[in-house]
Amino acid sequence: MFNCLKRITAVSLILLALTPATTLAVDRLGIGSPVDGKTLAGWDIDVRPDGQGLPAGQGSAVDGEELYLEKCAACHGEFGEGAGRYPVLMGGYETLTTADPEKTVGSYWPYATTLFDYIRRAMPFGDAQSLSAKETYALSAYILFMNDIVTEDAVLDGAGLAAIKMPNRDGFIGPDPRPDVLRKACMKDCKGTIEIRSFARKIAVTPELEKAEAN
Ligand code: HEC
Repeated sequence: MFNCLKRITAVSLILLALTPATTLAVDRLGIGSPVDGKTLAGWDIDVRPDGQGLPAGQGSAVDGEELYLEKCAACHGEFGEGAGRYPVLMGGYETLTTADPEKTVGSYWPYATTLFDYIRRAMPFGDAQSLSAKETYALSAYILFMNDIVTEDAVLDGAGLAAIKMPNRDGFIGPDPRPDVLRKACMKDCKGTIEIRSFARKIAVTPELEKAEAN
């Protein structure tokens, strides 16, 4: 009997492990609906710095120029200089250490793969996610060409984008040097006694209780 129970428990545990969490939430809470792989794929569009997540396909800077003029230049300027107060996409090199840094794709962004991710996810503004993979590769190549990072005849695919070393790649500080980021958090018996050394009241930033109540 005991063995039999054990076996039933084991089988239920395996079944439980195989049941998608979403199905459980639907059954248990009566809200939502299970998400199938196809639906999920529409949301799963992130591209990582190393290029993971980039789709198949490729695009040329030459094709990108035409698309750019048609779909992007109205806001970002014909040469990426930015129209009105829309973001500048080009230049700004050697301004990062000045009092007025101009952070553009060319001067600031550490990874070219992010350009693909961002354009596919968010641009053109107002008509996001309307571009094909080929168009997005072409636009990425053209913006990189505008920034003198690739040549005019560049044709980029996922591997090509991931292989580009952006000018500011090494301009970020890492690992995060703040002491509380690296220190292992103490969760138990951290300090023998706690001594209160001062009160905010002393420097008059906390209203006195009586005064606060009187007001
Ligand atoms: C209607 C105006 C408009 C159009 C058209 C447009 N953009 Fe943008 N773009 C914006 C705005 C606004 C932002 C900033 C959005 C934000 O910060 O949330 C932006 C941001 C960007 C950025 C990031 C800039 C940075 O350094 O942070 C890139 C890259 C970009 N757009 C590319 C494109 C491309 C490629 C196209 C054409 C397919 C395009 N945009 C079309 C308005 C536009």
